[in-house]
Amino acid sequence: MSIRACILGATGYGGGELLRLLAQHPELDALDGLSRSRGGTAFGSVHPHLNGVVAGAFSEAPDWRALAAAERPVLFAALPHGEFAKQWPALWDEIGAAGLHERLAVIDLSGDFRLQSAKAFARHYGHAHPCPEWLGKFRYGLPELNESRPEGRSYTGASPTLIANPGCFATAIQLALLPLARLPDPGFIAVSGVTGSSGSGATPSDTTHHPTRAHDFRAYKVAGHQHFGEVEQMFALAGAGTRTVSFVPHSAPLVRGIFVTAQFALPKGIDAAALRDAYKSCYAEAPFVRIVDGSPRVAAVVGSNFCDLSVTVRDGHAIVLAALDNLVKGMAGQAVQNMNLALGLDEATGLRQAALYPG
Ligand SMILES: NC(=O)c1ccc[n+]([C@@H]2O[C@H](COP(=O)([O-])OP(=O)(O)OC[C@H]3O[C@@H](n4cnc5c(N)ncnc54)[C@H](OP(=O)(O)O)[C@@H]3O)[C@@H](O)[C@H]2O)c1
Repeated sequence: MSIRACILGATGYGGGELLRLLAQHPELDALDGLSRSRGGTAFGSVHPHLNGVVAGAFSEAPDWRALAAAERPVLFAALPHGEFAKQWPALWDEIGAAGLHERLAVIDLSGDFRLQSAKAFARHYGHAHPCPEWLGKFRYGLPELNESRPEGRSYTGASPTLIANPGCFATAIQLALLPLARLPDPGFIAVSGVTGSSGSGATPSDTTHHPTRAHDFRAYKVAGHQHFGEVEQMFALAGAGTRTVSFVPHSAPLVRGIFVTAQFALPKGIDAAALRDAYKSCYAEAPFVRIVDGSPRVAAVVGSNFCDLSVTVRDGHAIVLAALDNLVKGMAGQAVQNMNLALGLDEATGLRQAALYPG
């Protein structure tokens, strides 16, 4: 197979991770990285770790002719929140003019098309969607969730192939809670999560600037994080209706990494062994979910596409812990996993590497 991939927003953290991962993908033939401001400069001038490894320079606009000539053309969007949705109707016209409506796989890393209803979007993002008619046309790309859906894990039958890649916190929380969607409702589920500073992207702000967070620890968006909508939607997509989940995110002095703690009462009729079996069987075929003993560790997953999970039961209550790299399984790695599924490849192609340890 010969893949040509084009990345919108290639100078950002997600764009850099896509360049790193795609460059080592065995089926990739050509890679374009776009930037509004860095056209003509080498990828390594922005992403120093790619120097001498990923050849090429940023360009300013997609090369539709080259994409149309490719056997398997793929467009990744790694743009800031709201930007891809704003550009999408015009981009769709350009995709059509290039004769690519049926053949291009589109994978959006932002939150713009993850929620399937305009009402849910407005509730969780606080503003109306710019092109609500497209909501629901992007398939929500959490492979472990899609395993249990009638369409299955692969997207190869879809035309056009439009995929909304899940959020980083949303991925960790959903993987921690997905097995519960197949069990009786446990009642209230309390989730607390911790993220590193790269979760906010490459442009510094008061909350991501190193001096303001290197020695701090705090909660933010308490009970109001936008990824909550994806968790609600996951229970509905998995056929479990609604579940009561509370989520408190925290910012930690890490660069990469997400760590989530979920606590709930054991569902009726389920003991500790049955709960552990439910987690094991849910992820038996999932190449990137590892059930570990003790606590998962951010250091054991950073740089890799793995999400490590542990399940502990005590006095009728369960504690599920999850750790992943927000820029890999929480973003670019999962996007490549989704590309593999969209193209009918083994989903782990190009992604089976261990974390850097110690990080
Ligand atoms: N960081 C994470 O952990 C994470 C995880 C999951 C999902 N996401 C989502 O993935 C998307 C990309 O995240 P990121 O962390 O890679 O962001 P980022 O580091 O801020 O990069 C975004 C890139 O988009 C380009 N861009 C194009 N139009 C822009 C505009 N109007 N304003 C600002 N930048 C524009 C910029 O490159 P040029 O200026 O060179 O064009 C910029 O480098 C976001 O929607 C984010 O919410 C992020």
